[in-house]
Amino acid sequence: MQIAIDGPAASGKTSLGRALAQRFGFLFIETGKMYRAVALGFDRGLSIDNIHVTMNDAGRILLNGEDVSDILHTPKLDQGSSRVATRPEVRQLLVRLQQEIAEGRDVVMEGRDIGTVVLPHANVKIFLDASAQERARRRANERHQLRLDETLRDIIARDTRDQTRTIAPLNPASDATIIHTDNKSLAEVISEAIALVEERLHTGEQVAN
Ligand code: DC
Repeated sequence: MQIAIDGPAASGKTSLGRALAQRFGFLFIETGKMYRAVALGFDRGLSIDNIHVTMNDAGRILLNGEDVSDILHTPKLDQGSSRVATRPEVRQLLVRLQQEIAEGRDVVMEGRDIGTVVLPHANVKIFLDASAQERARRRANERHQLRLDETLRDIIARDTRDQTRTIAPLNPASDATIIHTDNKSLAEVISEAIALVEERLHTGEQVAN
């Protein structure tokens, strides 16, 4: 069983993905962290050939063997990851890694191109959306030190880059269920998504390709 969750920055993909993975006992894979780890590698002066990103069994992200999971969510790496994500060699490397991890496993995977490129045959595809203002408000709350106006500006810059890049731009898959979360609590979004997954589990139905 594969569950793909896509959506723009700060749309709630991680909170939803973690909740679904826990509920169904699936492996949770945050692909954004992989792009962030590559951006960190470039920041440290490494070239792409010397950057090895992996995920361990606990879902932690390793950069050349070092667990960097806790230092990836900074404003600098928000923008850096979105920039490296436009590079074809980076996408090729990470898409392959993500497909290898998902192979033969029950997974919840979240990102930008999961339903379209990484797991095009996923059983459930969810695209989370919310206004830039709402996403900035949530992100600024989550990272207490951030100013709302700066957060909004950064989110809009990232949206523009993620949506307009030539390779695998952020787009809902044609068979994705789009959930608008502006006026919904996280609990409501989670129960809507659980209902979708349960429906698929019961019918054993595959998404038509
Ligand atoms: O989900 P996130 O904010 O941690 O992602 C960071 C950046 O990585 C995002 O702005 C674009 C890129 N990304 C991507 O291009 N494809 C993915 N599957 C996941 C993230």
